[in-house]
Amino acid sequence: MTPLIEARDLVRIYQIRRGLFGRPTPVRAVDGVSLQVMPGETLGIVGESGSGKSTLGRMLLGIDDPQEGSIRFQGQPMPARHTAQWRALRARMQLVFQDPLAALDRRVTIGNQIGEPLEIHRLIPREHQGARVTELIRAVGLRPDQADRYPHELSGGQRQRVVIARALASRPKLIVCDEPVSALDVSIQAQVINMMRDLQESNGIAMVFISHDLKVVRNIADRVAVMYLGRVVEEASSDAIFRAPQHPYTKALVSSVPVPGKPLQGRVILQGEPPNPASRPSGCAFHPRCPLARDICRFTVPELLDIGEGRTAACHVVAGETTPVAA
Ligand SMILES: Nc1ncnc2c1ncn2[C@@H]1O[C@H](COP(=O)(O)OP(=O)(O)O)[C@@H](O)[C@H]1O
Ligand SMILES: [Mg+2]
Repeated sequence: MTPLIEARDLVRIYQIRRGLFGRPTPVRAVDGVSLQVMPGETLGIVGESGSGKSTLGRMLLGIDDPQEGSIRFQGQPMPARHTAQWRALRARMQLVFQDPLAALDRRVTIGNQIGEPLEIHRLIPREHQGARVTELIRAVGLRPDQADRYPHELSGGQRQRVVIARALASRPKLIVCDEPVSALDVSIQAQVINMMRDLQESNGIAMVFISHDLKVVRNIADRVAVMYLGRVVEEASSDAIFRAPQHPYTKALVSSVPVPGKPLQGRVILQGEPPNPASRPSGCAFHPRCPLARDICRFTVPELLDIGEGRTAACHVVAGETTPVAA
């Protein structure tokens, strides 16, 4: 089966100036990421703030261009930006980000905002638009009579539901969600995530679900890619990531996720500085914080290797423990 979206070796470099007179220095925000998302699949992307998740998400949607690497959508190269083909493709790919108020126009009723993509992309005859808006409002768990409300009259969770309804209006194949519930109360997060999962399953939409919080992706992702300083350090099924994380960084993230009814046993506390791409450590970028670091980790960048059972990891220690299957 052809992946819906396939990224190869994506690199995105920002020029960052330190201080007023500092010379701009290149910072590799995303540093060689490859990934695939199959139709209808949800890929979770997790990692601490600054690991390059948002930059990666924007490149997948064609909002930012990679300096290196390539992206294919349904087997075809991404069309050049602002062409008719690009616009058509953009309707098939939607972004939901953290702040629904910033995504919505406060002077327009939510019904009209949800209907906007139908209008812009002329997706259905005008006489059917009202019914479709009602259907979308119901699909995200709002009431049809709320269509006349304005964004500020709704709660944060309801506003994010409006943003999701609008994203669904153009019947996308892919939705990139960048920290979609991070601004919401913890009590609301699970409701919104469950709603998103139901919609994603019933509409067969593929999703890239970005979060700094591993527990948020647990109930929605089929697979999880863990990022550290612009690179994927481990990728596996969501099950495998939580059951048996391999990379020491993933282990630390997983061990900090509380399991209901269980004490946080064997919790690995992440020490040292959080990742900063402006001062990337040599070798394995995680080595200064890694409890298992050896000499090689300081000098040699570990490759992302197949470690069996459909999972990959970039770690010298893990690779050393994985015995290659004899031919
Ligand atoms: N537009 C930008 N200009 C300069 N640096 C940026 C820009 N966007 C992101 N960065 C830098 O790139 C790195 C990765 O950022 P980001 O992709 O936002 O990570 P995440 O979403 O994982 O927190 C950070 O160090 C950030 O400061
Ligand atoms: Mg981000």
